[in-house]
Amino acid sequence: MAGKERMSKASQSASEPGQALAEAGARVICASGDLTDSGDGLRFEAASNGETVPAFAVRHGGRVYAYVNRCAHIAMELDWQPGKFFDAEGEYLICSTHGALYAPESGACRGGPCKGAGLHRLHVWEADGKVYMREG
Ligand code: FES
Repeated sequence: MAGKERMSKASQSASEPGQALAEAGARVICASGDLTDSGDGLRFEAASNGETVPAFAVRHGGRVYAYVNRCAHIAMELDWQPGKFFDAEGEYLICSTHGALYAPESGACRGGPCKGAGLHRLHVWEADGKVYMREG
């Protein structure tokens, strides 16, 4: 019986971080396992500066990053094929329209027609095996 009580308390405290995140207005985008390093990204919609915008999340160097899905060259989505955001080497995010290259960890322009302009980054984080973001 005492063992059951200990297990019950342990599972309660394990779920508390997720509950706190939900109460703070965060929402789950996907499971952490849905994003592989330099693999396909996940498309979703996000609220940013009062509007709903297309967005995407990718994993690079073990970390998850998310951006508004809008090229800095012309306001077009980066992926012609849904979820294909990385170049062939898996090093940069690439716009499929004219080939602008962006650093996955910052969204900064690294070549092509973005000419120094970057992607709009969204704040995301991982906890409890899930990827979260805060709206707004
Ligand atoms: S629209 Fe992205 S590079 Fe031109």
